[in-house]
Parts: sequence; C-alpha cells; structure tokens
Amino acid sequence: MKKHIGILTSGGDSPGLNAAIRAIGKAAHGSFKMQVTGFRDGFRGVMENRTLTLDESSLSGILTVGGTILGTSRDRPDRMPMGGKIIDATDAIIESYERNHLDVLVCLGGGGTQKAALKLKEHGLNIITLPKTIDNDVALTDVTFGFDTALGIATEAIDRLHSTAHSHHRIVVVEIMGHRAGWLALGAGIAGGADVILIPEIPYDVASVAQAIRQRTRDGKPFSIVAVAEGAASKKDAAIYQRAVKEKEKAKGKDAKKKARAAIAELELHHAGNTQRLAHQLEELTHLESRLTILGYVQRGGAPSAVDRLLATKLGTTCVDCIHQGHYGVMIAARGYGAEPVPLEKVAGNRRVVPSDHPWIHAARLVGTNLGD
Ligand code: F6P
Repeated sequence: MKKHIGILTSGGDSPGLNAAIRAIGKAAHGSFKMQVTGFRDGFRGVMENRTLTLDESSLSGILTVGGTILGTSRDRPDRMPMGGKIIDATDAIIESYERNHLDVLVCLGGGGTQKAALKLKEHGLNIITLPKTIDNDVALTDVTFGFDTALGIATEAIDRLHSTAHSHHRIVVVEIMGHRAGWLALGAGIAGGADVILIPEIPYDVASVAQAIRQRTRDGKPFSIVAVAEGAASKKDAAIYQRAVKEKEKAKGKDAKKKARAAIAELELHHAGNTQRLAHQLEELTHLESRLTILGYVQRGGAPSAVDRLLATKLGTTCVDCIHQGHYGVMIAARGYGAEPVPLEKVAGNRRVVPSDHPWIHAARLVGTNLGD
C-alpha cells in the first residue's frame, strides 16, 4: 500500500516553506509513489479538513516563491479559536488524520509548532517536523530554514542605513526580528558592520551604548548604526521581567496565576515601544540626532536564498527517507551538510538562544562592536 503523507505549515511564514513543501512532495510522489495532501492554514486546516492535493502541477514553480502555498496560522490544536471561544481541537484533528487515512503528518514550523507536534505524537499520531523560522531559535538543529534569507535582508537594510547615518551624522537604530533570541540581530549586525548590537541574551546599559557612540564622535565618526533585536532589553527592564516570570512560576491558585500572567502581558505590551525609547535616550545622551527603522515583516518576505532552498530541500528529502523507513516522532535537524532525525521530546519546549561564549559574540567584540554591556 502506498503511504499517504499530510503536510501543514504553522506559525510565522518564512522563506523556504514552499521549497520544503516541494522537496517533500516531489520526493514522496516522484521517487516513492506516495500520496501527498497539504492542509491549509496550519493545524486549523486539519481540524476543518481543508486540503490541497500536492502533485506535480501544484508543486511546479514554487521553489522560489516566498510564504507558503498552504497558508499558515498560529492556531494550536489544544487552544483553537472557534466562534469567539478557545476549544481543544485535538480530538477533531485526530479524527481528520484517521478519516484521511494518513500514515504521517509533517509539520513545518518553529518552537510553538514543535510543542504542538509533540502533543499529537503523545496522542498516538505519526508525526515528523521540520525546523522553520527566521529566528533560528529551534533547539538541536544547526540552523532553521528562513534564517539565512532573513539574515541577508536585514544585512542589506543595515548596509543601506549606513548612507543616511553617515550623511546626516545621525544615530540610526534598526530593530530586527528574532522573537526572544538574538541570532538575527547579531548575525546581521556583524555582517552589516553595526557599531552597536543589542540582543536579548545580553541585557544592556544605555550609558554604555551612549559612551561608545560618544567615543566614535571623538574619533571623528559622528554617526552610528545600532542593531537591536526586538527582544533586547535594558538591564533594568530585563530584571523586572525576570521577577515577573518568577512570580508567575510561584503563583498559587487561579486568581494569583491570572494576575501574574496579566503582569507579564503588561510588561510585554510596554516592551513594544522599547526601540523608540532607546533612540530617544541615545539622542539625549549623545546630542546626535537619532532615527528608528523597524524592519518588521520585510525580513520574512520574498524568495528564499540559495542556502535556504538547499537547506529546505535537504531537510524535506531526509523527511521522506524517514517516512519510507517508518521512522516517526522526530524533527529533521540540520547537521553540517546533512540532516538527521532527533526525538521530538528533546526539541519541544527548548528555545535555542545565543550562548555568551558563541564565536559570533567573540568576533563582534574583537572588531570593536559595543554589545551594551
Ligand atoms: O517567529 C517569527 C517572527 O517573525 C518573530 O521574529 C516575530 O517576533 C513574530 O514572528 C511575529 O509574529 P506575528 O507574525 O504573529 O506578528
């Protein structure tokens, strides 16, 4: 009996998703004569049984296309928005999996998707995941697809921002995505020659940043590029947030937990204006004009880089090899030029952040980049 594969894309869109869908579809359909069905809009499409047959025609021409032909969502099986309420759709998803006679459900996604996929595995479904996100923060894989493309986009943006900073003798603060990890800001900051790079893993001292910028002015360079990860925070704000997280962990009872969650949500809402406040503080402290650019969703758009196409194809075809061998319950991790399956239990719930002794940190310091500490 030929195997039937279901595929979904979940979480933020990312360059390389269609390259991965194509690799899985062409390898499964073309090399192993398997049936391949795409589910629309993440786990919601499985619950609602909204599908797209993936065959030669639907897979043709998508290698270089950004986004995902299947659509995506952040809806989780156990917390599915439905008619203004939040329901547990796990049983409905299992029912859809069985009704479609799937042999395996392949989930392309980041940290949240890995966690949701593990829960479906624990409910007895055959699951394989691929590590997708521009944040590069999925554990136990060398890299996630989407990261290289976003790195190129953010780096080119920094290159362009040098012109205006230099011409106007200004500080240009550029906010870079990455959720709670600093990979994208650190990588693009180094590649783009930013003078300051601030990441969540190193809570910063504004005075240290201002001092570095003032020193550049004294050295005859009255302009600076400050690359800031969206999750970066000052030492003060980081301490307040950590205290709130500890309060939530200690909270006993429904009301206390609700109050602790609300306190964290309030802090996260306040954090949204962090880079604008930082730009203003630096202008005050250095007397240089300061301007903010938020790169936002530009970093997730457009055609994937060659590296991400290669990575997505490698991961997707390794996924099909595992399906052919009946090896389920794993994430296909990038490992050097190859790929290998790792148990979902070891991946889910583990965010990979920049270690303080990472070679990129060492390199940034040696070339004189200020890291806010
Ligand atoms: O996870 C990818 C990502 O782009 C993060 O870098 C960013 O914080 C988040 O998604 C934005 O989420 P949304 O697309 O739901 O606004």
